[in-house]
Amino acid sequence: MRNYTRKTRWTWMRSYAHTLASLTLAGPHTESQALSTATLIALTRIMVCTETQKLHLIIRRKKRKNTVDSDLFFHLSSWLSIRIKEFVVIHNGIITNYKELKEYLITKGYEFESETDTEVIPKLIKYVYDNRENDSVTFSTLVERVIKQLEGAFALVFKSRHFPGEAVSTRRGSPLLIGVRSEHELSTENIPIQYNSAHFKEGVQEKNSHNRLDGSTAINSVGDGRAVEYYFASDASAIIEHTNKVLYMEDDDIAVVTGGKLSIHRLKRQVGEDPVRAIQTLQMELQQIMKGNFEAFMQKEIFEQPESVVNTMRGRICFDSNTVILGGLKDHLKEIKRCKRLIVIGCGTSFHAAVATRQILEELTELPVMVELASDFLDRNTPVFRDDVCFFISQSGETADTLMALRYCKNHGALTVGITNTVGSSICRETDCGVHVNAGPEIGVASTKAYTSQFVALVMFALMMSEDRLSLQPRRLEIINGFRVLPELIKKVLSLDEKIRAIANELYQQKSLLVMGRGFNYATCLEGALKIKEITYMHSEGILAGELKHGPLALVDKDMPVIMIIMKDACYTKCQNALQQVTARSGRPIIICCQDDPEMTKNAYQTIELPHIVDCLQGILTVIPLQLLSFHLAVLRGYDVDFPRNLAKSVTVE
Ligand code: F6R
Repeated sequence: MRNYTRKTRWTWMRSYAHTLASLTLAGPHTESQALSTATLIALTRIMVCTETQKLHLIIRRKKRKNTVDSDLFFHLSSWLSIRIKEFVVIHNGIITNYKELKEYLITKGYEFESETDTEVIPKLIKYVYDNRENDSVTFSTLVERVIKQLEGAFALVFKSRHFPGEAVSTRRGSPLLIGVRSEHELSTENIPIQYNSAHFKEGVQEKNSHNRLDGSTAINSVGDGRAVEYYFASDASAIIEHTNKVLYMEDDDIAVVTGGKLSIHRLKRQVGEDPVRAIQTLQMELQQIMKGNFEAFMQKEIFEQPESVVNTMRGRICFDSNTVILGGLKDHLKEIKRCKRLIVIGCGTSFHAAVATRQILEELTELPVMVELASDFLDRNTPVFRDDVCFFISQSGETADTLMALRYCKNHGALTVGITNTVGSSICRETDCGVHVNAGPEIGVASTKAYTSQFVALVMFALMMSEDRLSLQPRRLEIINGFRVLPELIKKVLSLDEKIRAIANELYQQKSLLVMGRGFNYATCLEGALKIKEITYMHSEGILAGELKHGPLALVDKDMPVIMIIMKDACYTKCQNALQQVTARSGRPIIICCQDDPEMTKNAYQTIELPHIVDCLQGILTVIPLQLLSFHLAVLRGYDVDFPRNLAKSVTVE
């Protein structure tokens, strides 16, 4: 019988990519001890922030208590729900040699609780600490020893009960900056770099004793005995609401905060390098920082997709062994494989991700797969059984209908799986297990990168389910190879932006827009039409090309704009048939098709030619032109792209 009381830890047990930091701990230690460790940080508030999530250790010695911002409840609740141990590590990035390190540590008697690369770091520092030559070894020396062993990209912040009042951070390849906030003038705007960590034996209490590269003596830290707050973040947008004074760390810089002061040193001196780290004053507003050079969050999020899909795959697909491991599901895999049916439930765009992947789920799991709109699923009191596995797809993890469907399925005894983009959300907490899509924060109301990441996550699930099916290996390989090239192909699609803007220019005064396709690209029609209607307020319909003759064809004439998706897959001939139906009614279709398809160019009013990828991933590429089109149409029509009328990002009511 399934153990329903077991609360899964999927909210924290993996390394979050790019914008999220993961928290991992090592060594036998209790929560209360760790909290008292934290209280010793003097007059220093250390905050570890990322674009979306903020993990704050807010400590005020004066008050002798730890306070925790309420918006951090999620991180802290998952943090405090596990036993706090000797070392706390916050990691953003990827450790590529983690397997070797893990194997080594296992030979030394270490046990691992997760499949994450992050977990090797606290275990490694614990190992280095236990094997230190004497008790005078500093925290930063331990960190130096650890990072010498790490390969890959990382930004790290370390804390330990062995070094109370101290935090050490470093980076290589992943961004890391330090925000500095003080009510007083800072003692310095430039922090000279040190090259010998032995100076740090007593932390920065050796104030003024460090030599600058130019030989002069300088204050080597800010803080200077006054209350200063430090914020560690991957991006300035995460901390701009607290401070606009920012210091960008370079690769292999090691920053130490101790006794309320910050100092920086490096592993090695390099010729020509800057001898100081300047504290810069950011002039930009929060919104501006977050949007970068883009006109709108939605546009930024569309262009982030080459990176966000990588973040969804990171640490999960091994391209050497052609294996996929979704850490949050692996403990439940046997049970999932035994189920009788998969039910995939969501609303809006998240529902479309289910539609987009249904066929490959059916093909690789060989199970019946139902896709359901959460509201309709509940209206029907759909029969659900103990041997069903129910997936809940949600960017926000808070959508009321999806959440209610989740509770309904739980009450019926099904295993529940969350696929969300929001760590610690209600759907994360209430499901038995799940996968974070790690797309990064999505601010534009119209969902874009969350959709493609949900798509990737569901296909990865299908791959994981079929790992031991010999007959499916060629198909699996084809898909894994598709994932390998996906980010590059997304970039190629994004390079068509100018062409798509020109098409938008021709269409923006129209009242309606039809989007037609079938097979693997039917979901793109639904999703494209949803994007268009929600931000441009034009009427738009996604039409299954196979249904054309059953009604929608009546809409087609020379004036009705029609977009058709015709890729070279199993539905190609049938789609050509639909195309003939449209052109025979004087329709002037804009065709999203494969590169080098003269047949399409001949029959189209316009073509948007895309690179080819394995059929079941093609929908990731075909949706992007429609995301871009909806964006340009909305801009040309003069609407607020990010905040369309009557809509909210998170729909927490029925
Ligand atoms: C459309 C859109 C919505 C959401 C829907 C579900 O662009 O964003 O259709 O997809 O409200 O939201 P989540 O995924 O947060 O459950």
